[in-house]
Amino acid sequence: MRLLYEGKTKKVYDYGDEVVLEFKDTFTAFDGKKVEEVPGKGEVNAKFTELLMKYLESKGIRTHFIAREGNKVRARKAEPLPLEFIVRNYAYGSLLKRLPILQKGQKLATPVFEVHYKSDELHDPLLANDDPVAAGLLNPEQAEEIRDTTLKINEALKELFKKAGFDLIDFKVEYGITGDGQIILIDELSPDAFRAHKGGESYDKDLFRKGASGGETLKRYLELLGELERVIQDELQG
Ligand SMILES: Nc1ncnc2c1ncn2[C@@H]1O[C@H](COP(=O)(O)OP(=O)(O)OP(=O)(O)O)[C@@H](O)[C@H]1O
Ligand SMILES: [Mg+2]
Repeated sequence: MRLLYEGKTKKVYDYGDEVVLEFKDTFTAFDGKKVEEVPGKGEVNAKFTELLMKYLESKGIRTHFIAREGNKVRARKAEPLPLEFIVRNYAYGSLLKRLPILQKGQKLATPVFEVHYKSDELHDPLLANDDPVAAGLLNPEQAEEIRDTTLKINEALKELFKKAGFDLIDFKVEYGITGDGQIILIDELSPDAFRAHKGGESYDKDLFRKGASGGETLKRYLELLGELERVIQDELQG
């Protein structure tokens, strides 16, 4: 076992065809300028990733998820694309800066699909949708597949969150290419990577960004996790 990569919130270990993502007990915001350790946070994000990736698999989306144990997720290894894909259903975050005619929190007439280049130094800049193909990172078929899959993920998660009483505001996903050329969903799906609202309150990392402690933030994560688990249980039984 070899440490492949250590990021701000995860360690990634190489096991040949597989990787193990070890989720750290760390909250980070503002490109790592605000940091707090909260025992149990890593396991909660690993549980979100398990729950949501299994759910997406049941909707026909290929993911890297294999199994979870505590704060560790076993997954298929893939060559990560240096890109992040975001879908927004409501106006928050960087969209407000780009399109100042929007009111904060406004429901968008149609979901917005964004591609960003992963670079901490450049603060993950927004790309034009044609850029990944122009740069040779994706062929046109792959770019289309990723867009379709990401919008399909949005529809599936939006509906799931709605049933649990939450609005899915936006989310970020990453993809990788497997040894046999498949594009699969990788990394994590957790409130570090999406926004969820209920009754005007955040149940995601915005709490931490806006001054809540890591402990308070984690309590909200757990509340959301419980509600999502309940809905998925009901769906399986119904
Ligand atoms: N199945 C996988 N195979 C290979 N690499 C993966 C897989 N899933 C996730 N990764 C990579 O593991 C890393 C996770 O680390 P982490 O999210 O902590 O990094 P980070 O500090 O957020 O920095 P980054 O901006 O690279 O995400 C990411 O670079 C991600 O692309
Ligand atoms: Mg990351």
